[in-house]
Amino acid sequence: MCGIVGYIGGKEAQPVLLSGLKRLEYRGYDSSGIAIISSKNNIEIRKSPGKIRELEKLLKNRPLCGMAGIAHTRWATHGAPTQINAHPHQDCRGKIAVVHNGIIENYEALKEKLTKEGHFFRSQTDTEVIVHLIEKFYRGIPLEDAVAKALKMLSGSFAIGVVAAEEPDKLVGARRGSPLIVGLGNGENFLASDVPAVLGFTKKVIFLGENEMAVLSKKDCRILGLDLKHIPKEVVPIRWDIGQAEKMGFEHFMLKEINEQPGILEHLINSRIKKKTGQIYFQEQNIPKLKLRGIKNIFIVACGTAYHAGLVAKYVLESYCRLPAQIDVSSEFRYRDLLIGPETLVIAISQSGETADTLAGIREAKRRGATILSICNVLGSTLTRESDGLIYTHAGPEIGVASTKAYTAQLAALYLFSFYLARVRGVLSARGLKKLLQQLHKIPSCQKQILKQQKNIASLARKHSHLGSFLYLGRNVNYPSALEGALKLKEISYIPAEGYAAGEMKHGPIALIDEYRAVVCITPSSKVYEKMVSNIQEIRSRKGRIIAIASSGDREIKDLTSEVIYIPRIEEIFSPLLVALPLQLMAYHIAVKRGCDVDQPRNLAKSVTVE
Ligand code: AGP
Repeated sequence: MCGIVGYIGGKEAQPVLLSGLKRLEYRGYDSSGIAIISSKNNIEIRKSPGKIRELEKLLKNRPLCGMAGIAHTRWATHGAPTQINAHPHQDCRGKIAVVHNGIIENYEALKEKLTKEGHFFRSQTDTEVIVHLIEKFYRGIPLEDAVAKALKMLSGSFAIGVVAAEEPDKLVGARRGSPLIVGLGNGENFLASDVPAVLGFTKKVIFLGENEMAVLSKKDCRILGLDLKHIPKEVVPIRWDIGQAEKMGFEHFMLKEINEQPGILEHLINSRIKKKTGQIYFQEQNIPKLKLRGIKNIFIVACGTAYHAGLVAKYVLESYCRLPAQIDVSSEFRYRDLLIGPETLVIAISQSGETADTLAGIREAKRRGATILSICNVLGSTLTRESDGLIYTHAGPEIGVASTKAYTAQLAALYLFSFYLARVRGVLSARGLKKLLQQLHKIPSCQKQILKQQKNIASLARKHSHLGSFLYLGRNVNYPSALEGALKLKEISYIPAEGYAAGEMKHGPIALIDEYRAVVCITPSSKVYEKMVSNIQEIRSRKGRIIAIASSGDREIKDLTSEVIYIPRIEEIFSPLLVALPLQLMAYHIAVKRGCDVDQPRNLAKSVTVE
C-alpha cells in the first residue's frame, strides 16, 4: 500500500517528512516524492522511482525549504513505477499538490471530462484526477470546501493529503476506505497513513473515519464531514513502540496479513463486479474476448503457494469453463516438451512477479505461441510486463515470507476470472453467475467469523506444537488446501509436513499413522464428505491424532475427534477461501510456540529470483 505523510508546524518540513516516509517503508513501495510550500508561497516538488534514498539524493542537491508539506511512498496500482507517476501530483498551474493511497474506480470517466474542460494530465495514474477536480472547484472558496466537493465525485477508496500555495498555513487530509490518521503535536500537526510515521514526534493521534476530513494548521485541528460539518473525535494515546506500530499492534507481519484478508477480498471482489449489471470486469485484463473464445486448453504455471492457488483454479476452470486445464510447477514446466501452442492460455500466478522459474516458463510458452495471463500482486513487475493479460490481486505488499493474504487474493482473482471466461465462452448463464457471485460475496464476512476463533485455534495449535510431523489430507477442491496447509507449517515451523489427496492414504501414507503424528483432515460439507469421514475412521483405528476442519453445525465430526475447527457453511467450490485461514493460523501459532522467526524463516526468500 502507499504511504502518506503530511506536516505543518514550526520546523523545516523536509526532514520531518522524510523520517515519516522511512517509518512507512515496511508497507512496500516502488517510488517516492515530496512537496513543500516554499517561503515564496510556491509549491516545490521532488520525486523519484525506486527507494527513498533516490529521493534523498535529489534533495541533497536541491533541498526544499518550508514548514508545510506532504510526502508519499507509492505502491503502484495504475501506471508503472516511474518519476512521472510518482506522487505528489499537481494541478495545471502547479499551485495545488496531492498525495493519495487507494484506487479511484471512476477515474477514467473523470479524466475524460476534465480533459474536455481543458485540464491537462501528466501521468497515467488514477490519483491525478483528484488534484484537477480540486483545482476545478477551488475558486474563491477555502481549500477544504474544494476538497470536499472533489471527493464527493469519487467512487473507490482514498486517503489523501493536500496543500495549496494560496493557503500556505493549511494542510488538508481525508479518507474513505484507506487509513489516515492525524498526529497532534505542540505547535505542529501531522497527517499519516499509519501510526509509525508520527511516533517520533507525538503519541496523540486521531483516527479519521470514513468520509472524514482533517483541516490542520500548526496550532489548530478541525475534523469535518464532507458536508463541512464539525465532527467531534477522540484523541487516542498510542502506547505502541515503533516496531509494534508497523505491525498495527500484531506480533508479526504474518499475523497482521492473515487478519487483513477479509478487507482485501471485499475490495478485490467489489472492485471487479459492476454494481449495475453484476458483470465481472477487469480493467487491466487486456486479452480480447475473441481470443479467449478461441482457447482450446489452459495451462497453469506457478511455484509454491501460487501453485496451490493454481491447483484450486484447475478444478474451477474445468467445472465452469468446460476446458481441459493442466498445471505444473514452473521449475518442471520450463523444461518439459510442452504440447502447447496458439490455442493455449497459460495462466502464470505469482505474488512477486519476479520468480525466476515462472518467468522462464512463460517465456518458453510465448515462444510456442501461447497467450499469457498473469495473476500478480506487484504492478510493474517483470511478469506483468511480459504477459498479454494481467489481473492484479491488489493485496498490498506481503511482508511475511509465508504467503497468506496473497494466496486468498489469488484464489479470489482466479474464481472471478474463471466465471468471466465461462461467461465469455457462453457456458455459464447470467443466472448461474449471479448465484455464484452471491456465494463469493459472503466470503469476507465468513472469514471474519473464522478470525473471531483465533484464541481457540491458537490453543489447539499450541497443544500439538510438540509433535514431530504432520499429515494434511483433503479431497477434490481441498486437496490443494491440504498441500497449502502443509507448506505453511513446514516453511515457518520447520516441522516435516506433507499434504496428500486423502484418497491416496491407503497407497502409502497410512503407514505413517500413529499417536505421535497429527493428521489434519479437511472435511467441510462436500460431495466427498462421507469419503473423508471414512479416512478419519481409518486414522482413528490407528490412534492417529486428528484435527478436523469442518463446517459449522456438523455434529457427526464431533463423534470422531474432539479437535475440530469450524468454518461457516459455503458452497464446496469456495471452501478453500475459508479453509486457508485456520491452516494459516495453526501454522503461525505452532511456529511462534516453537520460537521460530515467523516473518523471516530460515533459508527462505520472499521472492526466488534465481533458479
Ligand atoms: C509461500 O508461502 C512461499 N513463500 C513460496 O512458496 C512462494 O509462494 C513461491 O516462492 C512463489 O512466489 P511468487 O508467488 O512470488 O511467485
